[in-house]
Amino acid sequence: MTETVFVLNGPNLNLLGTREPEIYGSATLDDIAGMLEDRARELGLEIDLRQSNHEGHLVDWLHEAQAVGAKAVLLNAGAFTHTSVALHDAIKAIRTPVIEVHLSNPHTREAFRHKSYVGMAAKATIAGFGPLSYLLALEGAHRL
Ligand code: DQA
Repeated sequence: MTETVFVLNGPNLNLLGTREPEIYGSATLDDIAGMLEDRARELGLEIDLRQSNHEGHLVDWLHEAQAVGAKAVLLNAGAFTHTSVALHDAIKAIRTPVIEVHLSNPHTREAFRHKSYVGMAAKATIAGFGPLSYLLALEGAHRL
């Protein structure tokens, strides 16, 4: 049976490609999905990539990841990273490993981005490599 890796994306990441390209680059979320699917195929994994601007959807999808036996979750929670105790608790509530992903490196940016409720609960964090952050997180998930 092929193992699935959930790739969950939070608010404003649907606008990747046009959103502050000087920070986030020109790749769209579809481009990232394609890149992940290509690598996942080589690794014998399946990708289930989703995006929502609503915090509760991300909570529900974390629960679903465990319910369906996903191998891991790559989570770019966008700004909810820095605000969401609900996402922190959801990550703690499941046994599925969650890897925090960011395109930018929040620690080199505004002070309000320096705290990560997601990172405090996640197994690992990969940040600052642009779209490559997702690919590196997939490699990590594969080797878990
Ligand atoms: C982000 C970093 C967050 O601080 C920001 O709110 C985002 C994107 C990133 O991928 O670099 O929406 O998660």
